[in-house]
Amino acid sequence: MVDPNGSGRRTPSADRSRRPPSSFVEDANVTDPGIHEAFETEWPDCWERAADLLEWDEPYGTVLDDADAPFYRWFTGGRLNASHNCLDRHVDGGAKNHAAIRWEGKHGESRTYTYRELYTAVNAFAAALGELGVGEGDVVTIYLPTIPELPIAMLACARIGAPHSVVYAGLSADRLATRLEAADSDHLVTCDGYYRRGDAFNQKRKVDNAVLSLSRSVETVVVDRLGGAFEHDLADGQYDYDTLVDAHAGTTVEPVPRDAEEMLFLMYTSGTTGEPKGVVHTTGGYLAYAAWTARAVLDLKPEDTHWCTADIGWITGHSYVVYGPLALGTTTLMYEGSPDYPDRDRLWEIVDRNAVDVFYTAPTVIQAAMKWGEEYPARHDLSSLRLLGTVGEPISPRPWEWYHEHVGGGECPIVDTWWQTETGGHVVTTLPAIDGMKPGAAGPGLPGHDVRILDDAGEEVEPGRAGYLALGRPWPGMARTLYGNDERFLEEYWREFSDPEDDEWIYFGGDAAVVDADGYVTVLGRVDDVISVGGHRLSTMEIESVILEVAGVAEAAVVGAEATGVYAYVSVERGHDDESAIEERIKERIETAIGPIARPEAVIFASDLPKTRSGKIMRRLLEDVAAGEELGDTSALRNPEIVGEIQSSVRNC
Ligand code: WT7
Repeated sequence: MVDPNGSGRRTPSADRSRRPPSSFVEDANVTDPGIHEAFETEWPDCWERAADLLEWDEPYGTVLDDADAPFYRWFTGGRLNASHNCLDRHVDGGAKNHAAIRWEGKHGESRTYTYRELYTAVNAFAAALGELGVGEGDVVTIYLPTIPELPIAMLACARIGAPHSVVYAGLSADRLATRLEAADSDHLVTCDGYYRRGDAFNQKRKVDNAVLSLSRSVETVVVDRLGGAFEHDLADGQYDYDTLVDAHAGTTVEPVPRDAEEMLFLMYTSGTTGEPKGVVHTTGGYLAYAAWTARAVLDLKPEDTHWCTADIGWITGHSYVVYGPLALGTTTLMYEGSPDYPDRDRLWEIVDRNAVDVFYTAPTVIQAAMKWGEEYPARHDLSSLRLLGTVGEPISPRPWEWYHEHVGGGECPIVDTWWQTETGGHVVTTLPAIDGMKPGAAGPGLPGHDVRILDDAGEEVEPGRAGYLALGRPWPGMARTLYGNDERFLEEYWREFSDPEDDEWIYFGGDAAVVDADGYVTVLGRVDDVISVGGHRLSTMEIESVILEVAGVAEAAVVGAEATGVYAYVSVERGHDDESAIEERIKERIETAIGPIARPEAVIFASDLPKTRSGKIMRRLLEDVAAGEELGDTSALRNPEIVGEIQSSVRNC
């Protein structure tokens, strides 16, 4: 897999480290540089600081119980309710008229819910769920686009102690069916349809197909998203959301105190085999960790308007659109949209109109915006922004600089946060007021973490060498297991480097990384993104970051195939149309930076790269295109139309 003696990577050098402006530091939530050390000395009790951000119905007895490691338990004996922590305590604490959610719809609609209004909506729906027979411990599947009813349904479930399993609305009927089945879920909340770009899209037809294919019967609540323009019928066991909620208007439902270790939600994510993995997150540890990281890393304060552009159907949306910000009493902005619909001003227009303080997005979004040009952010007032963040993929220095300059006005610190569905919240990142930034490196581990870069034998590699990104200590937000499959949990994350005989447990989430002499980690990507060329191991990410340094390049994806060597797929910025000159520069640059071994066999130019709906470039598909193989299902793509263009460019190159 990763060759420890292979290509040493150019790590961002210390002299490029940046400090945040003093105005940021003065007002930041976490400013004590001693925090890293304090968490070392006090571990694991340091995590009481996270638990202290919540209100507990019953105090916990033990911070960490490791008797069944790696099935760790946090804050044992404690009881709490997540909906109470995200709503009631703010309503009672004087923030009832403070905005909890600002929603921006696809057609320019907007809605605001104060904490009090959100509380009312959640209570009514919690009562409705109760009437449908949903009880404590029953998994409710939610299949909704980014509309307010999605967080309302999540919090209503949390209120009555029913774990939710949110399935991303863009997934197929087939995927929905597998997830309903796998989660033993008899209840579903969905909608008639929603808008994809300008067009109405029938969601309910997908649901009906999914449910038909199941042996179990699924009680379904349908939100009328599209109104009269789009008629839908309700069959037996299907209920209209508004009718249910109207029937329960004004009802209050007491939040059910849950054991800290009880499941708050399930989140399915894809694994290496076909079967989806149901990642289990808990009520106490997860919520405390989401709140703590939202406070320490995103620097959220109650008076902030925070905008995380992720879809709530993914973990980023769970932790940093819903649970983290609402636990802290912040205003969270959610948008149903795409960065270029109705136009390329969309993101910056929303920041401007809502005076957004903290903006958190994915590198692919930044790269797209960079490609469109700086005039779009330039014509909006972005001066409300205080902090910027990225998540989901490594961000290379060029887009980092562009983000810093053209969105952050050269002032806002940027946090590049590495984490995963399984970690529940941030793990590797700078603390914005404490740690200097190095464009291209995510940062050190958060306080309390033991981040190690290991070779195949599990030994730590020297700085500058690629290795496996592993975590030597548990943390409150970690996944507890895979739903109904403890064995697979052990197999997927704990087998590689742990020493069960010695009771030494090391978590490995599948990424390769390199650390510099200052302990800053640059994530290279999944180990399956590490390619083998002529017996040498190369990171596709590493080659990509070199390509992205070439002027004119907007996006790059590199794949390897045994017979063909390195293939680089590239899209260019507007105004740079001399492809052969760019190709030459790319090849030269790679030879100089990494070595001739990494020189691409082919550079394929495309107007866009194929992406999943969550914005990840589909490298697997590009590998198949490079190898001239028959392509599988491309329905998971956001832009399937691009595939034909790329295939014909490959044939002609
Ligand atoms: C994978 C996890 C966690 C939220 C988003 C996706 C990659 C995530 C970074 C980053 C480099 C990153 C990793 C990780 N990743 N953040 N800042 N730098 N890579 O969650 O779907 O569970 O994906 O996303 O490869 O393993 P996910």
